[in-house]
Amino acid sequence: MSYPDSPPMSPSIPTEWPNFEGMPEDDALTASRPRGQKLAPWIWWDGEIRDSNTPHVHYYANALHYGVAVFEGIRCYPTAQGPALVRLKDHLERMLISARLYGMKLPFDVDALARAAIEVTRRNGTQNGYLRPLAYFGAGPIDLKPKRECPVHVFIALRELGTFLGEDALRNGIRVMTSSWRRFHHSMMPAGAKASGHYANSVLAAHEAMEHGFDDAILLNQDGNVACATGHNVFYVKGGVLFTNDETSSIVPGITRDCILSIARGNGVQVQVRSFTREELMRADEVFLTGTAAEVTPVRELDGVSFSTGKKTLGAFFQRTYLRAVTGKSPEYQGWLTTT
Ligand SMILES: Cc1ncc(COP(=O)(O)O)c(C=O)c1O
Repeated sequence: MSYPDSPPMSPSIPTEWPNFEGMPEDDALTASRPRGQKLAPWIWWDGEIRDSNTPHVHYYANALHYGVAVFEGIRCYPTAQGPALVRLKDHLERMLISARLYGMKLPFDVDALARAAIEVTRRNGTQNGYLRPLAYFGAGPIDLKPKRECPVHVFIALRELGTFLGEDALRNGIRVMTSSWRRFHHSMMPAGAKASGHYANSVLAAHEAMEHGFDDAILLNQDGNVACATGHNVFYVKGGVLFTNDETSSIVPGITRDCILSIARGNGVQVQVRSFTREELMRADEVFLTGTAAEVTPVRELDGVSFSTGKKTLGAFFQRTYLRAVTGKSPEYQGWLTTT
């Protein structure tokens, strides 16, 4: 077996990043990020804005029993041009693909959902927020064929969200363990879809990590290779080269992951997208996780093995570049943002 032990450094990337006073730098994070996850007063539901306090889900909603709802998580950040949604259409397109995989027909297309997302963000006056579009099979008979008899409902909920794993996590990194639970294989369920039932697997791993005093868990897949963290993609850096896996490792190919790959390619960082083992991860110089919620969070320890974190790492460069992009400070990534 060969390991990418010491590939040459990416030519245009210096080994140390000058001018990093703190991490993340003050200008990369928004001035004040909410500490809680307060629910927004208004929700978009089946085509109209409603009071979010009104209960709506039927206790016999098929999705509640059998786990077939499809959803997305979309960040809203304050920018100089007003609150902006990150990669809005990419998220909504992924949701419609997830729905298609489960035979769920939504009565709204991407453009209608995008207008709804903008409308509900405006109506709530949200700056630092997290949008949760979700489509589910509603009430019907006790049946495992909901596409035949259950109506499809769609909502876009909104809540405040600052740093998901805490500001300390962004600055200093988190401690993770390898879960004893494996990530389900793509031959068992469509692993790239974001469907609510899939997350029972993540909850088991997250609870296990919590009970063992870790911040999160890495799940291996059926092949024994690394899949993902509970709700985040995994990257590592070895010898200046950036590594991450793809769909063949049974991951959700994250939109944040795609942002990091774009930033890497745009800055001459050598990238290898391929499956990798836990051992390769433990040999890494740096490890970080990406996701809409987690943004770019360094991992400082995996199963007792420590990695480089801090202002001189390549991970810090990606974190800073990503946070500057999503807060509208980088003209070259303006295309990722939809201002509301
Ligand atoms: C299992 C899993 N992997 C990765 C991700 C990251 O995806 P994204 O960057 O699109 O939020 C998520 C979050 O959606 C996830 O649930």
